[in-house]
Amino acid sequence: MSYEPTSEFARRRDEADPLRGFRERFALPRGGRGEPLVYLCGHSLGLMPLAARELVLEELTDWAQLGVLGHEHARRPWIPYHENLRDGLADLAGARPGEVVAMSSLTVNLHLLLAAFYRPSGARRRIVIETGAFSSDRHAVASQIAWRGLDPRDALVELSPPAGTDTIPEEKIEAHLEEHGAEVALVLWPGVQYRTGQAFDHGRIARAVHRAGSVAGFDLAHSIGNMPLAMHDIDADFAVWCSYKYLNAGPGAVGGCFIHERHDRPHLAGWWGHEAATRFQMRPEFHAAAGAAGWQISNPPILSAAPLIASLALFGAAGLQRLRQKSLMLTGFLEFLLDRLAPDVELITPRAVDARGCQLSVRIVGSPGRGRRVFDALTALGVIGDWREPDTIRLAPIPLYNSFSDVFHGAQALAQALRLEP
Ligand SMILES: Cc1ncc(COP(=O)(O)O)c(C=O)c1O
Repeated sequence: MSYEPTSEFARRRDEADPLRGFRERFALPRGGRGEPLVYLCGHSLGLMPLAARELVLEELTDWAQLGVLGHEHARRPWIPYHENLRDGLADLAGARPGEVVAMSSLTVNLHLLLAAFYRPSGARRRIVIETGAFSSDRHAVASQIAWRGLDPRDALVELSPPAGTDTIPEEKIEAHLEEHGAEVALVLWPGVQYRTGQAFDHGRIARAVHRAGSVAGFDLAHSIGNMPLAMHDIDADFAVWCSYKYLNAGPGAVGGCFIHERHDRPHLAGWWGHEAATRFQMRPEFHAAAGAAGWQISNPPILSAAPLIASLALFGAAGLQRLRQKSLMLTGFLEFLLDRLAPDVELITPRAVDARGCQLSVRIVGSPGRGRRVFDALTALGVIGDWREPDTIRLAPIPLYNSFSDVFHGAQALAQALRLEP
């Protein structure tokens, strides 16, 4: 007897979901006629926690009422504002509180940490990334290399998936480092690859990088808040992330960094990285604050950090382990439905659950241009995912706010879109 998935089955799974109450604490987008949309795009922009509006309004109110005095007397004083985010971010990054800081934005933080951690010297001059890395990461790395007077065509190494595959086994990184490690100054690797959704074993990568005498940096844009991380224990040297995807802090929200506590690198200094007790003496010498806080350069962007407080509170209440358990079920359900309802799509994301987070990337096969047409049809059916050239649709059910019914309707709509665009 073959099993036919039904909306009733999804509804029952929702009823049994201990985290279902969190959905009500988010603003769920609607279409032009007020109809509910199926939002499966939290890998790109997370939804707004309802409490974010209140938190931003509180900052605006404090600004209106207090002006400059808000730095010290706002209900959450602005001078140590980043401290409101520290513990929640440390939990999500798997770090000690002093190892993380919310600051600036992703690519800027990447530049800053590459400036400190990329120390080419003699033959050890290369940076290793994955082929098809997010454009901004590649631009940052290539321009850092050129900035040191080196040639990215020589010093930028891009590791590709084996021929005919989409994902990169960790063995490939290990093999490269065993053979060429003496030339590698730094490896910058994604936690989850943005296009394929492949999640990597960070610990294994960090160990291989360190065996080669090199530096291990991670871009956690697609993994923080998506799956549990252990940056401290795996001994990563540094990591960067943004807060507008799985962290639900809103467009352009404040970014974040992890710097392992064993590092006391020269800081590219700004006044906010100065130890707080003497910062306002405005002396010419720079005395770095302890830990990652010493890497701050400017004073924190209060209005783009406030929503993150709301979101981190939800992560704290739900618990990352419980979110991961639900995420495995939601994404597994999506995979199950796609296999049955949409057999003519190709799953790019690994099927092994340890090698993926929330996101599934599906390649639309068929005539040129079909993928984009299918994606447009899916959007017209009220399902929000996103499109990556040349042929990929990314969908991510997010355990904080997506339901099994969302997944059911999303998969059904994709099957319909495939029929509409044969
Ligand atoms: C992997 C990755 N790197 C870099 C960026 C660029 O981020 P930002 O514009 O915040 O610097 C993004 C944005 O989505 C990303 O996903």
